[in-house]
Amino acid sequence: MTDQEFIDFKCPYCTEAVSFPADTPGKIQECPACAEILVLPPANSEFGHKIPIPITTPRLVLRRLAAGDWKDLLEFTSDDELFRYSEWSAMDEEQVIKWLEADKTVKLTTPDATFCLAIQLQAGGKVIGYFSLMFIDGLRQQATFNLFVSRGFQGQGFGLEAVNALLNFCFEAISLHRVIASFDTRNVPARRLFEKAGMRREGEFLKDRFLNGAWVDTVWMAMLREEYARARSSPPPRSPA
Ligand SMILES: CC(C)(COP(=O)(O)OP(=O)(O)OC[C@H]1O[C@@H](n2cnc3c(N)ncnc32)[C@H](O)[C@@H]1OP(=O)(O)O)[C@@H](O)C(=O)NCCC(=O)NCCS
Repeated sequence: MTDQEFIDFKCPYCTEAVSFPADTPGKIQECPACAEILVLPPANSEFGHKIPIPITTPRLVLRRLAAGDWKDLLEFTSDDELFRYSEWSAMDEEQVIKWLEADKTVKLTTPDATFCLAIQLQAGGKVIGYFSLMFIDGLRQQATFNLFVSRGFQGQGFGLEAVNALLNFCFEAISLHRVIASFDTRNVPARRLFEKAGMRREGEFLKDRFLNGAWVDTVWMAMLREEYARARSSPPPRSPA
């Protein structure tokens, strides 16, 4: 048996000394003392890193949901049309309040739970959408996500701004290996959005879901950590002369 190496540092939340098997800096772990989710720092660091949420973009803040979000959420999650291509369906006030109550107990590492982030406008503070993010492997290195943007705010680039920020979080902040998004083949806005975010089409599953009384096709798009790094380091396309 080989001796496993450990990395020792202090929890950035409770400051207790913690020790984890040495791994790539950026991987997430749960502090055994205070149960907060922390990010492994490089070797010889005094403290681990906090999960960098909220995430700020030029026009948005991505943050944990809060009980006071129910009105903004209800405004668009009660809209049947938003869920046209999805397994989920519109919610009423009671369902939104129950969701927010349950969400309080969810952490990024909670097995089989979706970790949600509100998509909030910086100007005025309205919540116009949300993400749900979920690990799909036991190593917590691959995740899938969904997002919903209120129909009143679609087509203004908010979805793309939010997805770019989420991919940055997944690859730069918590060092994921692969991120995927799947959607109904007929969902043109979703396809355009994920293409514009640089995700690669992985495949199409024919009639793999039974939705609203019919078998429908699903597209999977993905991005690997190295693809993200390559896209970040390549120069932006030249604008036409
Ligand atoms: C998919 C979705 C998140 C896009 O959000 P958004 O804020 O409208 O996206 P953006 O404004 O950043 O647009 C991104 C791209 O999609 C295109 N797009 C947006 N709405 C579109 C529409 N109704 N029809 C065609 N293309 C559309 C945009 O034009 C843009 O591409 P372009 O710059 O080449 O024009 C939103 O339509 C939505 O919430 N849909 C319902 C839920 C869903 O399908 N989620 C995705 C699967 S999980």
